[in-house]
Amino acid sequence: MKLLSKDIEIGGVSVQKLREEYGSPLYVYDVARLKENLQEVQDSFLSKYPKTKAAYAAKAFLCGALVDLLAPRGIHLDVVSGGELHLAMAKKFPGERIEFNGNNKSTEELVFALRYGVGTIIVDGMDELMLLDLISRELNTEVEVLFRVTPGVDAHTHEKIKTAKLNSKFGFAMGEVARALELTVAAPGLHFKGFHCHIGSQLFEVAPYLEAMEKLRPLFKLVEEITGAPIEELNMGGGFGIRYTTEERKPLSYFVDPIVEKRSEIFGEEVPVLALEPGRSIVGDAGYSLYTAGTIKRLEGYPSYLAVDGGMSDNIRPSLYGAEYLAYNAQRPLDEGTEEYTIVGKLCESGDRLIESQKLPPTESGDLLVMPSTGAYGYSMASNYNGMAIPGVVFVEDGEAREVVGRQSYEEMYGRDLYL
Ligand code: LLP
Repeated sequence: MKLLSKDIEIGGVSVQKLREEYGSPLYVYDVARLKENLQEVQDSFLSKYPKTKAAYAAKAFLCGALVDLLAPRGIHLDVVSGGELHLAMAKKFPGERIEFNGNNKSTEELVFALRYGVGTIIVDGMDELMLLDLISRELNTEVEVLFRVTPGVDAHTHEKIKTAKLNSKFGFAMGEVARALELTVAAPGLHFKGFHCHIGSQLFEVAPYLEAMEKLRPLFKLVEEITGAPIEELNMGGGFGIRYTTEERKPLSYFVDPIVEKRSEIFGEEVPVLALEPGRSIVGDAGYSLYTAGTIKRLEGYPSYLAVDGGMSDNIRPSLYGAEYLAYNAQRPLDEGTEEYTIVGKLCESGDRLIESQKLPPTESGDLLVMPSTGAYGYSMASNYNGMAIPGVVFVEDGEAREVVGRQSYEEMYGRDLYL
């Protein structure tokens, strides 16, 4: 993002031009940044260390144009639903490079995954393991499985995005693993590869990853005892934090180097494949939201309410997690912030607040606002609440813009209503 005196450029394209061409609100992705983030995965992880694998967590943001960036780079895709799998299939993403994560996968989803030839199913619990065993017998197919486990690590992040605590809806409890292994050994279609553990999201410390690996140690031994072979793969999930406002984004190597070292410490010479599943750190800081300022309500003794033409329907993160963002006024981005605003959306909820308090230069109705770092879990968590249409997505690179997902029309929004 480049701040000019009367404009902001993303990927060499004026945001004012983007608004003219594609409307507001709008999601904009800087393709150069997406490529840099993917290159970091390559340089700091895949090329640097043997027996490594990176699966992009599709839940952070998924569309066809993004798959086009992932596929040629050898990145795998981590999907969590029939819907994400459908998109991958529509893009002919190689099945062997897809892993299917998530709890409570349905029979339909598992059948779909097995028929498509999904490489790895990350089994989330005992019920699912039994269902998968049944389905693989029925379809007479084989599939590789990892067990997701929750070793009881309390990562330092928002309560709603911690995932490896003992009291978690995800994964096998440690005590269930022996039975699960015995069941798998007896299942003709299931090939056990190893474990999966995602401890949480938006993390800035490597210690909880290492702590989780340490806690998994007894399971590695258990596998040798029960199956007679060591594990082939260990997936430590994603969670690498990014900068939204003042956070200091750590380079991927900050996480990867100690995790790889820990792998050697635990396994010695014969290490299993180490897989990671970054989502946010690939797309988060490459994405921007564009909004148009509307009404301004001035209150004595409080920041003024500056309402924009989107809100919690296109970015629920502030309402859901108290997530913080910054905004820039694209009409005068270099001017000093002299007025304090609470930036709110236009939905009928008091909690529809995007930024609690920020100083901006005096802002008028019609001004264009740019909010950086909205590339992860913005578009992918968007909703039609209040009949709000989901904004389009534009990719910009080298001074060129291309729309990659169109703005949702009202006809599309209500198209499934059979009584209209
Ligand atoms: N792997 C698994 C199994 C996951 O559950 C997740 C995220 C990831 C990988 C990717 O994590 P990342 O690298 O993106 O942190 N909606 C929340 C985040 C929820 C994350 C859910 N799982 C947010 O907006 O902060």
